[in-house]
Amino acid sequence: MNQHCILVVDDEPHMRRVLEIMLRSAGHTVYVAGNGREALEILRDNPVDLVITDMRMPEMDGIELLNTMRRDGMGVPVILITAHGSVESAVHAMKCGASDYLLRPFDLEELELAIARVLNEAAMLRQNSFLREELNRGWDAFIGTSVAMKAIYELIRQVAPAKAPVMIAGETGTGKELAARAIHNASPRRDKLFVPINCAAIPAEMLEAELFGYEKGAFTGALKDRIGKFELANEGTVFLDELTEMPIALQAKLLRFLQDNTVERLGSNRRIPLNLRIVAATNRHPRDAVNEGRLREDLYYRLNVLPITLTPLRERKEDIPDLLAHFIVKHSPRADGRSMPSAEVVKHLLAYDWPGNVRELENMVERALVLCGSGPFNMSHFPLEPDASLRQAAAPESPITLGPLTPAVEAFEARLIGLALEQAGGSKQKAAALLDISERSLWYKLKKYGPQTTDTQG
Ligand SMILES: Nc1ncnc2c1ncn2[C@@H]1O[C@H](COP(=O)(O)OP(=O)(O)OP(=O)(O)O)[C@@H](O)[C@H]1O
Ligand SMILES: [Mg+2]
Repeated sequence: MNQHCILVVDDEPHMRRVLEIMLRSAGHTVYVAGNGREALEILRDNPVDLVITDMRMPEMDGIELLNTMRRDGMGVPVILITAHGSVESAVHAMKCGASDYLLRPFDLEELELAIARVLNEAAMLRQNSFLREELNRGWDAFIGTSVAMKAIYELIRQVAPAKAPVMIAGETGTGKELAARAIHNASPRRDKLFVPINCAAIPAEMLEAELFGYEKGAFTGALKDRIGKFELANEGTVFLDELTEMPIALQAKLLRFLQDNTVERLGSNRRIPLNLRIVAATNRHPRDAVNEGRLREDLYYRLNVLPITLTPLRERKEDIPDLLAHFIVKHSPRADGRSMPSAEVVKHLLAYDWPGNVRELENMVERALVLCGSGPFNMSHFPLEPDASLRQAAAPESPITLGPLTPAVEAFEARLIGLALEQAGGSKQKAAALLDISERSLWYKLKKYGPQTTDTQG
């Protein structure tokens, strides 16, 4: 397990100490705080990867701490510890924006599992600028008045009230997650949970447990019952992102759920009835995914009752000026009436094809805001070319010399990935497709080969 900086918040000195020892023994760097206020001070001055906090504390409790962190723009993931082993308190914690919860008493192994789960997810979510979206969810977040977007708003309005599953298709960065949230927020379920699950981010062998939960003893490491995300989201919406990355065997279980609306925790034979809305997304054409054997045909038919296909940005370029203005306001440090880029710059942006779609545009604006400081925008702030570090990674190969195999193979692999990312305009989905590997394995390789390949756009 990797080592991380973890902040432990608990008002009871003994509990604090126990957690500190557990985490140190697992190799983490640990900060401790006795209450929410102390925790906030530590968070302001230190690079903390994760907060583990007791739910109940005098003065500022765990939920209040979490709310304050989010209000102050701190996206650090939070695990809440609750003493009451009920589904309700778990739901409450998740509703307040916790990444996970732990029920007392727990042991080191459980703690480590929760940490791994949360940090793994956090890394993936950072890639997707999820925390930002979190602050910005719902209808108002949608920008664009093109015919294509108006048709999407209309579709969302139509499908929202129904219970039937929705299948959203669209290239990377076209707003699939935004659309899924809009459907939830326009539905009668809006006051219940919206639970996103990225099927590509969770290791295949853990996904089933994550979705359906498990009972104590179902497998090694299953030390107590745990409810799955489906049960957690009961009465709300589950968003299955990157559906085609879900193992085929699990797709069969999903189909069964869609037919009878019950789930079975691993290691149990009791079926639990649930009332859930499923919204799934994929950046492939669902039909192609069926042909490639990545999506079960029967599941495809079941999900495709209400299909929504998002239009790539290059086919609705008239939305670019509005999106540009929106992202400038969204990412300006203060709402200080910054002026729009010149007509010349806008023209330059309109000429580009935006393979990473709206997300690419958003990232571009964020970068331009940094580059231009307090001055006006100019062309050089919007370099519409692949990242220089990637170009370097994809530079022509030097002649082969004899030496150890592993580093040579890895160096070659890193270059190939750099090249794929360049061709894909920074889109990891496309790069993975070009390399014919899963996004999950691309993700692991990017982590392995370090920041020069990962620090591109999401
Ligand atoms: N029409 C839009 N108006 C405003 N913001 C948008 C719009 N479409 C997308 N965005 C923003 O662009 C970013 C990417 O959107 P989102 O994550 O929904 O895309 P996605 O289709 O799920 O991408 P991926 O397939 O890569 O996961 C988000 O920050 C989102 O808020
Ligand atoms: Mg997405």
